[in-house]
Amino acid sequence: MKDFLSISDCSSEQLKELLELSVSLKKFYKDGKLDTCLAGKTLVMLFEKPSLRTRMSFQIAMTQLGGDGIYVKPEDIGGIGKREPVKDLARVLSRYADGIMARTFAHQTVIDLAEFSEIPVINALTDWSHPCQAMADVMTIAEHFGKLDGIKIAYVGDGNNVTRSLAFAGAKLGMKVAIASPKGYELDSESIAEANEFSPGSTTQCNDAYEAVKDADVIYTDTWVSMGQEEEKQKRIADFAGFTVDEQLVAAASTDVKIMHCLPAYRGLEITDGVVESKNSVIFDEAENRLHFQRALLKKLMS
Ligand code: CP
Ligand code: NVA
Repeated sequence: MKDFLSISDCSSEQLKELLELSVSLKKFYKDGKLDTCLAGKTLVMLFEKPSLRTRMSFQIAMTQLGGDGIYVKPEDIGGIGKREPVKDLARVLSRYADGIMARTFAHQTVIDLAEFSEIPVINALTDWSHPCQAMADVMTIAEHFGKLDGIKIAYVGDGNNVTRSLAFAGAKLGMKVAIASPKGYELDSESIAEANEFSPGSTTQCNDAYEAVKDADVIYTDTWVSMGQEEEKQKRIADFAGFTVDEQLVAAASTDVKIMHCLPAYRGLEITDGVVESKNSVIFDEAENRLHFQRALLKKLMS
């Protein structure tokens, strides 16, 4: 495993191994111990879009592992693929650094970085996927349910990058993912087919939030307006009417259903404040696990 670009590139065994490492390193650090396996190593962190969780958790994970992270805004280097081709950027960084993580618009950018770099490349979110998020999500589910096998996730909202990675992770780790989106905002049929090819029947899709949450162990949602879609905001808000994860929808699931959201959350749109703050919410455990998963990923890829 050189890079971490998509859940679909990884075997179930590789994903399980990463989860086990995440859990053991989480305990190790909570016990106050330090693993400095990345001493002297540097991760270059390229961001075409804003970030709180991903940026901070990667930077802090590098510090905790004894290494360093350098945050790079596209304008600092004349834009990714603008001042010079991505293949040159990848080869130059390979001569200096020990790893690259990139949050980009086009998924092709992380593929090109990986193809031309000699060092590991990590996808920190593209328009197409968000694999680090999905792994923190499944880690959180495993912690709360003690298992992944047979867990049903109801994803309510936009069929986007987060949905896709979650569907792939669900398929590879024995879960069911029931997606409910408004018409026109469904996850693409190729991604659904890919998940179901790996695990037949693991991913389903409908246009009814209440149908999806029936018997769900987890209700998951994400913004209706992903980064880069700001101009569509008003149209999207209108089109997503009826898809808010609110108290009424949560009441249609089991009383101990867990609520998840990758954050940032837009209260009053895809989720209500009451649901974010409810006893069912594991949203901040989920945010914390970004650090624990990524620390394990960095150790695995860079040490
Ligand atoms: N969930 C997530 O990726 O958050 P950021 O955009 O703040 O990194
Ligand atoms: N789907 C969202 C996720 C943010 C973490 C976006 O791409 O903006």
